[in-house]
Amino acid sequence: MWDFSGQVVVVIGGSSGINRAIAEAFASAGAKLAVASRNRNKVDATVKALRELGADATGFCADVRDPEALERGLAEAAERFGKFDVVVSGAAGNFPALASAMSSNAFKSVVDIDLLGTFHVMRAVEPYLTQPGASLINISAPQAQLAMAGQAHVCAAKAGVDMLTRCLALEWGGRGLRVNSVMPGPVDGTEGMRRLAPSAELSEQVRQSVPLKRLGQTSDIAHACLFLSSPWASFINGVVLPVDGGWSLGGVSSLGPVLEQALASGKR
Ligand code: NAP
Ligand code: COA
Repeated sequence: MWDFSGQVVVVIGGSSGINRAIAEAFASAGAKLAVASRNRNKVDATVKALRELGADATGFCADVRDPEALERGLAEAAERFGKFDVVVSGAAGNFPALASAMSSNAFKSVVDIDLLGTFHVMRAVEPYLTQPGASLINISAPQAQLAMAGQAHVCAAKAGVDMLTRCLALEWGGRGLRVNSVMPGPVDGTEGMRRLAPSAELSEQVRQSVPLKRLGQTSDIAHACLFLSSPWASFINGVVLPVDGGWSLGGVSSLGPVLEQALASGKR
């Protein structure tokens, strides 16, 4: 349905789960791909999978908390492919923990990865963006909009990510760069879901709280990223797009008390 032939797509945090599915969807649509994350084996396996889909693909290792490592990897990707048409920034960390049980470093680690890391990615890709025309997508989460017990660090960090999206959409819009957030709902078979709803029972409870009565698939999120980066979305800038079956209308709030009870009783 979508044709990204010849376009260059960069996915940071692209070596597993939702972000890897996004990279694979762009590869299947004809794009050239550069993916990055911390773990060499995960990056190599992803590059291999992208090549098997027919894409020209490369990868590099970088922690988004390390701007120099990002800059080095991105410079190599630009050297190989030229300007970037699409950038997806999705590296994130999460663990359920009540605020009173979190050290300063625990809170900071998630803020550093999700929020400061997103800023590092946006700053580092800027010199290499196709201008006008590039689409930048930050991966958010429902915690950005709805407070949730056991998720103070993630709520604060992802709310910051969405505000960064809006500020960059303002600052860079005049250069023809579009910056948007995609906010996935609960996505089946992902690390994020395993951490927040580790049992089959909890996962079912989450499913029931989604108005569409199903969990998301990684492809649901990937399709939204393809749309946002396509000419059909050329006037969409600075939005936070929930791709969540309506979960953010209220159902998401049911997870907080469950997490809080499990954490307070020492089960998590
Ligand atoms: P995941 O499989 O753990 O994906 C995280 C990716 O980021 C991996 O490729 C990981 O690879 C990389 N990463 C983690 N820390 C990094 C760092 N410091 N520097 C560079 N790369 C790093 O998780 P997921 O569940 O698919 O989540 C993907 C995105 O969707 C996240 O932004 C998450 O907040 C968002 N989200 C997920 C859900 C859900 O239901 N799963 C719901 C809402 C939002 P390495 O380990 O190799 O670094
Ligand atoms: N409860 C409370 N604190 C926790 C915790 C938990 N469940 N898990 C980790 N922490 C604390 C650690 O104790 C440490 O704090 P300290 O130095 O005061 O002891 C701090 O968080 C950082 O932990 P560390 O393991 O050193 O960080 P890291 O940089 O190696 O890893 C994480 C970052 C913790 C976010 C790790 O879970 C990660 O890499 N996650 C990526 C994958 C992921 O979360 N996917 C889902 C995306 S939605």
